[in-house]
Amino acid sequence: MSHQQKQSMFISIDGIDGVGKSTQLQRLTEYLQSVGREVMTVRDPGSSEVGGKLRELLLESDLVMHRRTEAMLFMASRCEMVEASIRPALERGVTVISDRFLLANVVYQSVGGEVAAQDLWRLGLLANGNLRPDFTVLFDMPATSAMQRIKGPADRMESRGVEYMEAVRQQFLEQLPHSSDSFAVVNADQSPDAVTDEMLLRVAEFLDLT
Ligand code: TMP
Repeated sequence: MSHQQKQSMFISIDGIDGVGKSTQLQRLTEYLQSVGREVMTVRDPGSSEVGGKLRELLLESDLVMHRRTEAMLFMASRCEMVEASIRPALERGVTVISDRFLLANVVYQSVGGEVAAQDLWRLGLLANGNLRPDFTVLFDMPATSAMQRIKGPADRMESRGVEYMEAVRQQFLEQLPHSSDSFAVVNADQSPDAVTDEMLLRVAEFLDLT
């Protein structure tokens, strides 16, 4: 069965903070609906009652915790999101788009070296019952430009600074091939419309719609 015919589809989008994922998520949703798909979007961490509470703890609190503790809490949030929302939706034939997924966990929590990326892949797949996206879109741009776009108070990750975020960017590019069998790197350092055009072209190619 081609990707075009397969109704249930799991797509994740990711990238460093400030790359403009939210706008592109909205446009991707509208595009997929326009080609006849029922679409559900989720946000990792979040998208469940447990996930919402963990998101607050992980991003809005100034609690000090070991990188491994942090990694496990992100995984617990994702486990709940997968079992409560994503898997049931995929079983109903829905196309699910997740704003971040396990790739972000591996990348953000392995930079700094306390935890190895390969251990995070292994534990993460265990935590989400081996669910992998069919397609991953990575929005890429230099951390200096991305961080200038962030408005409002910095969350726990953003407050780690531009050097950390540039290391996260490089780790995204390195780890992306492990996220899913098919993936695309989209240049996010251009106008929002140009980013959308590039993203939709890559998604359409994946779905055999070109
Ligand atoms: P965002 O979803 O609003 O972009 O913010 C989520 C933040 O959490 C972002 O800085 C990336 C970070 N994060 C992790 O550190 N580990 C994870 O597993 C996930 C999903 C996100």
